[in-house]
Amino acid sequence: MKTAVLGFGTVGAGIYEILKTAEGLEPGPVYVRRGKADEPWKTDDFDAILADPSVGAVAEAMGGLEPTFDFARRTLESGRHFVTANKMLVAEHGIELQAIADRTGGAFLFSAACGGGVPLLHNLALARRGDEIRRVRGILNGTTNYMLDRMQSCGMDYGEALKEAQALGYAEADPTADVSGLDALRKIRLAAAVAFGILPDGCLNEGIENVSVEDIRFYQSKGLVLRLIAKTARTESGVSAYVEPVLFPQNAPEAAVSLNNNLASYEGRFCGRISFSGQGAGRWPTASAVIRDLENILSGARRMLPERTVSAAADNGGEKQRYYLRLPEAFAESFPEAEPPEAGAADGELRLVTKPISVAGMHALAAEIRQKGGRISFAALEE
Ligand code: HSE
Repeated sequence: MKTAVLGFGTVGAGIYEILKTAEGLEPGPVYVRRGKADEPWKTDDFDAILADPSVGAVAEAMGGLEPTFDFARRTLESGRHFVTANKMLVAEHGIELQAIADRTGGAFLFSAACGGGVPLLHNLALARRGDEIRRVRGILNGTTNYMLDRMQSCGMDYGEALKEAQALGYAEADPTADVSGLDALRKIRLAAAVAFGILPDGCLNEGIENVSVEDIRFYQSKGLVLRLIAKTARTESGVSAYVEPVLFPQNAPEAAVSLNNNLASYEGRFCGRISFSGQGAGRWPTASAVIRDLENILSGARRMLPERTVSAAADNGGEKQRYYLRLPEAFAESFPEAEPPEAGAADGELRLVTKPISVAGMHALAAEIRQKGGRISFAALEE
């Protein structure tokens, strides 16, 4: 199957290279920005790609919503297959694109949009057909895992760790999406859509921007390891979906995930907990996931989203957990039932451990305190 590639950056160039040797596949034209078509196999004319009857599939690695959405729509309208590594595109327009694919017979797959080379979505899409998926969770952002690992294992400060992650090419062009948890949230939303047929909206994300080196030292003194975790689960009224820092005991599998690696797990009624770990970002791992989708299309796969997938508000009010907090003394009354002050905070601040409270409740209290000018750092305790 001749496959056109959209974009010739880190991932696009990797896809093009692997297409040369992958079984049953071959590289087609590569779409690049206007004026950048400096090889005969590159083009800045998307219409020319669609006019070429030998092109059977399009693999997108350009990122962003425009013109990618337009290209995706037109590819599927033409009856061709569309494979993408673009989490934003799928989170925004996935349901609509799937509807076009269903109408025209094209395939729409996006394994590379969540977890890079880690085959989470691919396996979820298979597993949900015969099992009942109950929850999915994981370390889904390589940049923040790299930063937390460097801060914890080398005592590096936040700024230095971020600079290293950027220099190594793990971070998004604007790393705010990484450190705020938004990138991991986009990925877990896709996992929820594949696992449950519900693309959750209005989810919660607390990133690592409020984690200080002192917090890390304090957690280490308690024998705890901090990771940024994305979670989604079936609830009584729908699905939960959120991202937040979580503290693990040292022997937990999450604590052993080093550098930019990802660890993704799902739990099914019949299969129990299944985990995958590996490179969640970078040229070859991400390109390999795109190729895996294309190979899957050759074997007959046409979709990852369940039929009748809908979007719905996330339900984060049910699950309760305890949280470690660092906050100004003046705001301690927001947590009247928290355990008495622990040492280890700077003057004017306290460290507390809350009673079990809901995820929605904790995130709302933190937002309220921040709105009033207070600086709060929080992390859930894995128990
Ligand atoms: N910035 C992302 C990460 C890239 O660090 O995981 C892969 O999606």
